[in-house]
Amino acid sequence: MDAGQPLRWSRRAGGLLLAAILLLSDGVACAAPVGGTAHDDPLAFGGGSAPVPSMPPVGGRDGMVVSAQTLASQVGARILQQGGNAVDAAVAVGYALAVVYPAAGNIGGGGFMTLRTPDGHAIFLDFREHAPAAATATMFQDASGNVIAGLSTKGWKAVGIPGTVAGLELARQRWGHLSRRQVMAPAIALARDGFVLTDGDVELISHGNDDFRRDPVARRFFLRPDGSGLQAGDRLVQRELAQVLERISRQGTRGFYEGRTATEIVEASRRGGGLLTRADLSGYRPRLLPTLTCDYRGYHIDTAPPPSGGGVALCEMLNILSGYDMHRLGLYTAPAVAREVEAMRHAYADRQDLGDPAFVANPVAHLLDVEYARQIRAAIPTDHAVASTTIRPGVPTPEGQETTHYSVIDRDGMAVAVTYTLNGWFGAGMVAGRTGVFMNDEMDDFSTRPGTPNMFGIVGSKANEIAPGKTPLSSMTPTVISRDGKPVMVIGSPGGSRIPTIVLSVVLGVIDYGLDIQHAVDLPRIHEQWQPEAVQVEQGALTPGVIDTLRREGYSFQSYPHWGVAEGILVGGPRLNAPAGDARYYGGADRRHSTSAAVGE
Ligand code: DON
Repeated sequence: MDAGQPLRWSRRAGGLLLAAILLLSDGVACAAPVGGTAHDDPLAFGGGSAPVPSMPPVGGRDGMVVSAQTLASQVGARILQQGGNAVDAAVAVGYALAVVYPAAGNIGGGGFMTLRTPDGHAIFLDFREHAPAAATATMFQDASGNVIAGLSTKGWKAVGIPGTVAGLELARQRWGHLSRRQVMAPAIALARDGFVLTDGDVELISHGNDDFRRDPVARRFFLRPDGSGLQAGDRLVQRELAQVLERISRQGTRGFYEGRTATEIVEASRRGGGLLTRADLSGYRPRLLPTLTCDYRGYHIDTAPPPSGGGVALCEMLNILSGYDMHRLGLYTAPAVAREVEAMRHAYADRQDLGDPAFVANPVAHLLDVEYARQIRAAIPTDHAVASTTIRPGVPTPEGQETTHYSVIDRDGMAVAVTYTLNGWFGAGMVAGRTGVFMNDEMDDFSTRPGTPNMFGIVGSKANEIAPGKTPLSSMTPTVISRDGKPVMVIGSPGGSRIPTIVLSVVLGVIDYGLDIQHAVDLPRIHEQWQPEAVQVEQGALTPGVIDTLRREGYSFQSYPHWGVAEGILVGGPRLNAPAGDARYYGGADRRHSTSAAVGE
């Protein structure tokens, strides 16, 4: 990138962590800028909540790539420079993240792409994992029907048939301009020649250190020779992964789902007690689905349909909230928070009835009916909390970032939102033999037993029970927003069950509260998922006064460290209706992960 040109600059998020929001001992939220200048906030913070210090968004005239790793964002911007469109860049970023963000970027997992073409056609590409042919509804239960702890999250039984390579290749063939060789070259170079780790990379990779110690292949490149963890300044070279990527580059999907790579995966699975067969791999096909759509205050939302529950939840929450004047209520005021929480509670209670549309009939039309939203609103009291109907102990994770989202837009306005994942950091915790490919633990997203919470504390029903070839229900919510036929925003995030409420928070920040995209991404978050009942609060989101008011109304709260890594793009100005500057695109990278970067083109 040429830093000399004002509209093509990139900014790493390093050092600007949202740790800047300090929760003082008396519980008063306080904003402490660390680097850069906090810019004027367009809001009157009705609740008295402290504005979050925010850098301005990054501008770009001809394109924008925002991802969780700087090198990957740069790869995407370079592909745009070379004449690639947003899909070419998205495919290149997908492969690059598998190398430079290996805890979640992947070729051994799966994900979703929401795509909006310049002529306004929106489509959803589902390349999520499928259950192997030998999978059964009770495969994670013991003889008494109890769920066996850890079996769906670690080791080969946890692995679904990966979809990423098939998905990226389908996207490239349908919408890309560049050759597979061109879009994969940067990832291959990064794997083969290595890259020097920053503190942020090390923080990410260190999540897997215990797994690496158990894996004879992973330990060779993900640990130092003495078995200690990698450090900033070390060069991470992944030769085996480079070879697999080269095979895919030469042979296409056959380079992964057949031949040597497939043999390695299947053999490793068999040795590890897994279910994957060659037929599972060679039979994998991604699918194209219509996007799930809804409208919010004149904006059109294209988002993820089932097998994600994320888009349904997002649209149901927006439908409910559309009946309130959220701007007038004020960001983080007690009445605004209460309405958001009740909208979330309803949407998450409804989520449990969803599953793979190839296997179950999803009540989407009913859940997204505006009349249904009106009835929910009518039943939401304005002075006390609604009790979640059934309370079962959930086990929310303390942090939720173990997936990754990136957003891309090109000069023609083609917009691509991709969320893909191994599920937990480094998935099931092992690489597939000598491939250097980390495998997902996506089987945990099924209901291992209806009614039992998964690793995100989320409860599913029979609609999401395991069956051969079935896709587990997801929360991933890659979303493109448009108005009057033109793209306005590209957004998504990791965060497990919290993903839809993270996306909601950014959408409300931009549309209702007039924030710029960076500020909306930075906003501290709240989350309610019906079970468990307590409202989850990112440190600093609510003032003691607001919390007191809501406690008196019957709400309970649980405070968490930061969660999610939302990566967003706003079109036309840094915030809605702002006068257009020189840039056309504005990127907001989530500083909760220090390697996130928006790179303008
Ligand atoms: O598809 C899903 O909803 C999950 N597998 C996503 C996992 C995730 O976001 C992990 N991050 N906390």
